[in-house]
Amino acid sequence: MISDVIKANELHKIDPVFGQYSFDNHEQVVFCNDKDTGLKAIIGIHNTVLGPALGGTRMWNYNNEWEALNDVLRLSRGMTFKAAITGLNLGGGKAVIIGDAKTQKTPALMKKFGEFVHSLSGKYITAEDVGMETADMDLVRDVTPYVTGISESKGGAGNPSPITAYGVFMGMKAAAKYRFGSDILEDRKVIVQGIGHVGEALVEYLSNEGAQIIIDDINEERLQEVSSKYGATIYTGNDLYSEDVDIYAPCALGATINDDTIFKIKAKVIAGAANNQLAEEDKHGKLLQQKGIIYAPDFLINAGGIINVYAELEGYDKKEIMRKTENIYNTTLEILSNAETNGITTNQAAVNIAQSRIDSRKKNNR
Ligand SMILES: NC(=O)c1ccc[n+]([C@@H]2O[C@H](COP(=O)([O-])OP(=O)(O)OC[C@H]3O[C@@H](n4cnc5c(N)ncnc54)[C@H](O)[C@@H]3O)[C@@H](O)[C@H]2O)c1
Repeated sequence: MISDVIKANELHKIDPVFGQYSFDNHEQVVFCNDKDTGLKAIIGIHNTVLGPALGGTRMWNYNNEWEALNDVLRLSRGMTFKAAITGLNLGGGKAVIIGDAKTQKTPALMKKFGEFVHSLSGKYITAEDVGMETADMDLVRDVTPYVTGISESKGGAGNPSPITAYGVFMGMKAAAKYRFGSDILEDRKVIVQGIGHVGEALVEYLSNEGAQIIIDDINEERLQEVSSKYGATIYTGNDLYSEDVDIYAPCALGATINDDTIFKIKAKVIAGAANNQLAEEDKHGKLLQQKGIIYAPDFLINAGGIINVYAELEGYDKKEIMRKTENIYNTTLEILSNAETNGITTNQAAVNIAQSRIDSRKKNNR
């Protein structure tokens, strides 16, 4: 036994799961391993008070397992608040697959992952996230019904990214209205960091409105493609955060608002699709507030995707999906004003409202 080798007091110090910095009373954390396909995945189920835990699967080449665990804990918690603030009867969950999606993702690995999802009997429902395509969800669908975001030909609502982008656009407009007194983005200077599935669709909305768009990505090919399609300027500097722009839209990965970047940010509004943009919610949320930067909470404005996949479960049509997503505009304005009235961060205002919905459901369920 391993405890024979590692002394008991050393094991106490490790506290590998419940003692993790990002652990926040998650209900269940499931580690999945399959030798034949090379699958190594973690499913995080944060809270199921409002319904089954729904959240996408991310495949990422993490540096180590700690990073993967931390990511799934943070992401699944975010999903709880996202569903709650959007008024959906869903809990929060998320999954991460450790590995390079470009070289290590195989149909066999996706199906094996689907079997693990199935073993949870619907407590967790998966969907697409970074490193996943609709076709991957179709493979998961072959082995379990507990998956959303499958292709339209298979009865799904298809790729959620364009709807996510629409919600981000609505949230951005609301934040602009709050900060600049107008939600018209024409001639506003917006920097979009990450022009993947969501980022590109956001660039399209911004371009249709006549915004001055600057794009940044680590993928040079994408930059050329999106730039020529929408006339966006490719960022060539080496410190994107200190660019003098009106709006910064983080659409790559999370935690870009951190100790290193926060004092450099010149944007007056932050509104983007990435999950968990604030490295430390409380600390960095307060610093943004002090700097007078309007931060549109990520889990609120990137909820279009979850609305889209929820439609698969509830049988909504496209019109209802768009109506619910458009409402992100009103909810964002409410949260921004609630934060100002109560002297709290915008993130905290959104969390409070989401948490009170969960608490009252819990009380009613007793
Ligand atoms: N797809 C959805 O419907 C959805 C819904 C909610 C939240 N999100 C979040 O939005 C973000 C984007 O999602 P997506 O589906 O567009 O992912 P994606 O993988 O299609 O795109 C991400 C893009 O970011 C780029 N990128 C990665 N690291 C970067 C860096 N350091 N600097 C600049 N660019 C970088 C990648 O090259 C890629 O082009 C993710 O954080 C995701 O969790 C997505």
